Amino acid sequence: MSNAYDLAHHRSLTDPAAFWGEAAQDISWYKTWDKVLDDSNPPFYRWFTGGLVNTCYNAVDRHVENGRADQAAILYDSPVIGVKRKITYAELKDLTARFAGVLAGLGVKKGDRVIIYMPMVPEAVVAMLASARLGAVHSVVFGGFAASELATRINDAGPTVIVSASCGIEGQKVIPYKPLLDHAIELATHKPAHTVILRRPEAEAVLIPGRDVDWEEQMAGATPHDCVPVAATDPLYILYTSGTTGQPKGVVRDNGGHMVALKWTMANIYNVKPGEVYWAASDVGWVVGHSYIVYAPLLHGCTTVVYEGKPVGTPDAGAFWRMISEYRIGTLFTAPTAFRAIKRDDPDATLLAEYDLSPLKILFLAGERSDPDTLQWAERHLKVPVVDHWWQTETGWAIAANCMGIHPFPVKHGSPTKAAPGWDVQVLDEGHHSCKPGQAGSLVVKLPLPPGTLMTLWNADQRFVDSYMYEFPGYYKTADAGYIDEDGYIYVMSRTDDIINVAGHRLSTGAMEEVLASHPDVAECAVVGVHDTMKGQLPLGFLVLKAGVTKSHDQILKEVVALVRERIGPVAAFKTATIVKRLPKTRSGKILRGTMQKIADHETFKMPATIDDPAILEEIEEDLTQIGYARAREQQA
Ligand code: COA
Ligand code: AMP
Repeated sequence: MSNAYDLAHHRSLTDPAAFWGEAAQDISWYKTWDKVLDDSNPPFYRWFTGGLVNTCYNAVDRHVENGRADQAAILYDSPVIGVKRKITYAELKDLTARFAGVLAGLGVKKGDRVIIYMPMVPEAVVAMLASARLGAVHSVVFGGFAASELATRINDAGPTVIVSASCGIEGQKVIPYKPLLDHAIELATHKPAHTVILRRPEAEAVLIPGRDVDWEEQMAGATPHDCVPVAATDPLYILYTSGTTGQPKGVVRDNGGHMVALKWTMANIYNVKPGEVYWAASDVGWVVGHSYIVYAPLLHGCTTVVYEGKPVGTPDAGAFWRMISEYRIGTLFTAPTAFRAIKRDDPDATLLAEYDLSPLKILFLAGERSDPDTLQWAERHLKVPVVDHWWQTETGWAIAANCMGIHPFPVKHGSPTKAAPGWDVQVLDEGHHSCKPGQAGSLVVKLPLPPGTLMTLWNADQRFVDSYMYEFPGYYKTADAGYIDEDGYIYVMSRTDDIINVAGHRLSTGAMEEVLASHPDVAECAVVGVHDTMKGQLPLGFLVLKAGVTKSHDQILKEVVALVRERIGPVAAFKTATIVKRLPKTRSGKILRGTMQKIADHETFKMPATIDDPAILEEIEEDLTQIGYARAREQQA
């Protein structure tokens, strides 16, 4: 063993109790744990059992008590409406304690759920922390989802209260949130007792008497609420993510293990010091937003940034550079798609010359595979280390990363470097045997997972086991495929399920197929993710119509595009579909989605041995050519 990374990684796997027990000293406990790792009921591992803690206390109050009262906790910047705000830790404590009082006054108690459907405003962070303060369980729903997706989450989580706003600013558009919320509550079978609405000047919101209350009015008369001690193993939040069906998976995170792991990552993966400005340019509705806009930077006493803009168009491709120079941002974390968007609009990064980028020390990328081109473009222009790291909603923090605070390794473009401490990552083939270095297979993690990862799926323990723990007994299935090279560098190449990654957003093609199949004229359908230079992937639909349909094809295509937008939301970015005579299938009836994707992407492919009728591929190709996807295929019988 030759370096600090090897030592840390080895110790984290051979003596996890000592490793994480030590890391837990950085958190304030009302009562320390009886056991660091409770492995009595696998695969339901629990961390820090017997411990009592409060996440909001550790993220806010403790910094006020320890000399950070006047330090900025949140810097808010909404470029299109021109609003900027600085919130100190003392102010954040006051806001959070009062909003916890508001929630308590509306009946929220420890263990109750609070749904937060908010744009990127500081009040979204306040609502999350206030929920944590009460020991309640928040579930943030991304604003780009449609009312019916919100309704599904309302039914599953069963919230006492929903916190929302009159509108969000999305690019140059004002998106009214309240009508979407009203519609979602109408659709849902579970009805929340109350909603709290932040009324913004950009859009009116009509409040329903008895159910809806106004954020400002409630805050004006609120009694501050203190932090409620909860068990380390009590849930802090549920975050829904795409599964393989229209029913999203409610990933459950605990309080104790989550804090310990995230606090540890700030020093060891990100190499950030308390007091520094850390910006994750994402959205609170995604896991990156939960972990690295809200919890990790605040637990570490950093200043976090809430940005209600885009990398381009608000107003231009210099937006990120302005933020870095204006707020003296030392660490930036975003998805590669944001850099592809900047690169597209300003290929030579000429706008950089207008700003002082000297505060920036490092750029982290995650959310999708970092294509080497984009990564090298960022290195060349920013002249700072660019670190790719791999993680998932389920894991809450990086499975693989170049640990900049432990032992930085040379970068290999296309790899998120090595397994982070706590993670025993392996590659298994279909027969569950270990793959040799360089040989591709399923990326799996030997159990137990480290602290901060998913405890279970909300109300769905069996689905948790079936989805992640069943296929490879003793391992967590990441559903990513890839390989590990002879130096231990991990390469994440693709998903093994129907999840696609559109502009860093995780979407299920299965869920889109469910929507398409509900159209009255559609007999059969398939959705695949095709390559897109900016967003990474885009969904493409194939429809087979029912016999006797006389409606124009154009009309049907318009209707299905509108249907996906209405049922899943604009974030699905479902804009293209084509009508085909038949879908290619295996003799056993399985749709050959992979082959269709390869034809659309001009990739060579091997004729599937089990294909029922190879002639269908010719038809598919002709249809795709007509909508701008051409062919370059090599058939090998
Ligand atoms: N509320 C309402 N609508 C939203 C929304 C929100 N919070 N977020 C996105 N949408 C809408 C967009 O307006 C767009 O609608 P349109 O079809 O009417 O144009 C649609 O959903 C698709 O959005 P998006 O995929 O974000 O595409 P875009 O072209 O607007 O922006 C990027 C593309 C790359 C600039 C943007 O996705 C981005 O900055 N991504 C990188 C950062 C990130 O968020 N990563 C997530 C995980 S780290
Ligand atoms: P999400 O749950 O939205 O964070 O999406 C997780 C998925 O995004 C992973 O399972 C991967 O498929 C993909 N992903 C995230 N980060 C990376 C990365 N650094 N390299 C390759 N794929 C990634």
